[in-house]
Amino acid sequence: MKVTIIGAGNMGSAFVKQLVRAGHEVSVTSRDSAKAAQVAAAHPGAKAVAIAGAANGADAVVLATGYESAAAALNAVGDLQGKVVIDITNPLTADYMGLTLGYSTSSAEEIAKAVPGAEVVKGFNTIFAQVLSDGADFGDGRKATVFVASDSVRAKQTAAALAQSMGFDVVDAGGLKNARYLEPLAGLNIYLGYGAGLGTAIAPTWIHKA
Ligand SMILES: NC(=O)c1ccc[n+]([C@@H]2O[C@H](COP(=O)([O-])OP(=O)(O)OC[C@H]3O[C@@H](n4cnc5c(N)ncnc54)[C@H](OP(=O)(O)O)[C@@H]3O)[C@@H](O)[C@H]2O)c1
Repeated sequence: MKVTIIGAGNMGSAFVKQLVRAGHEVSVTSRDSAKAAQVAAAHPGAKAVAIAGAANGADAVVLATGYESAAAALNAVGDLQGKVVIDITNPLTADYMGLTLGYSTSSAEEIAKAVPGAEVVKGFNTIFAQVLSDGADFGDGRKATVFVASDSVRAKQTAAALAQSMGFDVVDAGGLKNARYLEPLAGLNIYLGYGAGLGTAIAPTWIHKA
């Protein structure tokens, strides 16, 4: 798949690493073109592109900026009409220990409103950058889970296919509205990782009896 990553930080660079490894055609962009170039150079096969038009030709766009930058970033990358946009953001407070919005909306729903023609899917927001970068395999046959929520079947299938290509299990978490659950779930993951001291090599998953 042709994938554009917006953001060259912790998550953006981990996506570049794992998507290139999985055989995808990966472009990375950021507001600082030097950072995007640095990330692309570290992962041969990836290319850094200018922010204007970065989404052109992409099968999927991964939004890997902070939530507060989301609308500006998406509006900068070109026409998103009919594009799959994977929203990985968590609307975190400055101390990372809370959410700035929730329960009656979610960052995914607010982002969908900001880019009305795009097909937005929530996903990967419960995966720490360390887990994405190190890989989905937790040993003993255990894999980290990517939860996907969207009102678009195509967007959900696209995010699921990308996650599976990187070795993740996928749980279909329903419509985009259920990002209202996934963002607090990420909040709990962050509390456990940082607040309770479990570290960032952890990930939530769901188990079921056969
Ligand atoms: N880190 C995690 O473990 C984790 C896990 C799950 C989800 N998330 C979510 O993933 C997102 C990214 O997190 P992160 O840790 O990767 O953050 P980060 O390291 O701060 O990276 C954010 C990147 O986005 C770029 N950016 C900011 N505004 C932009 C704009 N308007 N246009 C283009 N690029 C822009 C930043 O550029 P500058 O360097 O110039 O600011 C930076 O390269 C956040 O929403 C976070 O909640 C993070």
